[in-house]
Formats: sequence, structure tokens, C-alpha cells
Amino acid sequence: MSSDQQNLKKIPAPQKLVDVALTALSQTYTPYSHFPVGAALLTDSGTIFKGINIENVSFGLTNCAERTAIFSAVAAGNRHFSGLVISGRTNEPIAPCGACRQVMVEFFKPDMPIWLINDSGKEIQTNIASLMPGSFNALS
Ligand code: THU
Repeated sequence: MSSDQQNLKKIPAPQKLVDVALTALSQTYTPYSHFPVGAALLTDSGTIFKGINIENVSFGLTNCAERTAIFSAVAAGNRHFSGLVISGRTNEPIAPCGACRQVMVEFFKPDMPIWLINDSGKEIQTNIASLMPGSFNALS
């Protein structure tokens, strides 16, 4: 466990954010993998943006749930966020892919809570500093 993870102030995911992320699981566009992923992103101003994975017959064009939520929120003018829930129908709470982690580095404060959940009530709290240590985050 990283030191970031050990020093983490644990707070339960807000229920509304969990509800949106779990609802998203039944709204994904996943005709190829049949592997639904949901996300719910909370802005600093209190708005929740839902994310789903959106697949494509050209598989590499698939957009993950996390990036759908982040890009929707950013496209709507938001730049500051206070929490993200990621959901899966997985045995253990689901973890985000590397591409999504890099996008999170772009927009999330290092210690912003990220909750990884499954649909049977398991929850792990983390943040992007723990998920992506030593990340590329500056062009200078
Ligand atoms: N997927 C996500 O939506 N988020 C991730 O972080 C990992 C993978 C999606 C992409 C694809 O639709 C399916 O899960 C299987 O890889």
C-alpha cells in the first residue's frame, strides 16, 4: 500500500453518486464486451455527470465510462471536481484503465476521492496520486 493510501482520510462515497454510478451500469453501450462500467463525477458546484462505456465495432475507438463522465463535464464548462465513483459488475471493486488515469491526472486534484465500487456493495477509496504515481503532468 502506498503512503498516499495509508494517509487517506476515509469517507464513504455519497449515496447519490453511488446511485448514479450503479444506474449507469444498465445504460452502457457494450454490445461487444458485455462488460458494463459506470461512473459518476461530482463537480465542485454540486452537479453530477454520469459516465458509461461506449463501444465501437472498431474496438479501439471505445470510450471508457470514466472518460465519458469527465469529457461530458468538461464539455459543459466544468474544470473543478470533488469526487468520482466508478462501478462495475465485478467481484471486486473495479479499477480504471491507464488511459483514464492519465485523463484524471489532467483534471483531478491529487487527493480528490475516487471510490471504486461493485454492484454488491464493496467500496475502496483511493485518489489519483495513488492510482498514478510519478505521472506525466507538465510540458515544461
Ligand atoms: N472499460 C471502462 O469503461 N473503464 C475502464 O477503466 C476499463 C475498461 C470498458 C472498456 C470496454 O468497453 C470494456 O470496459 C472492456 O474493456
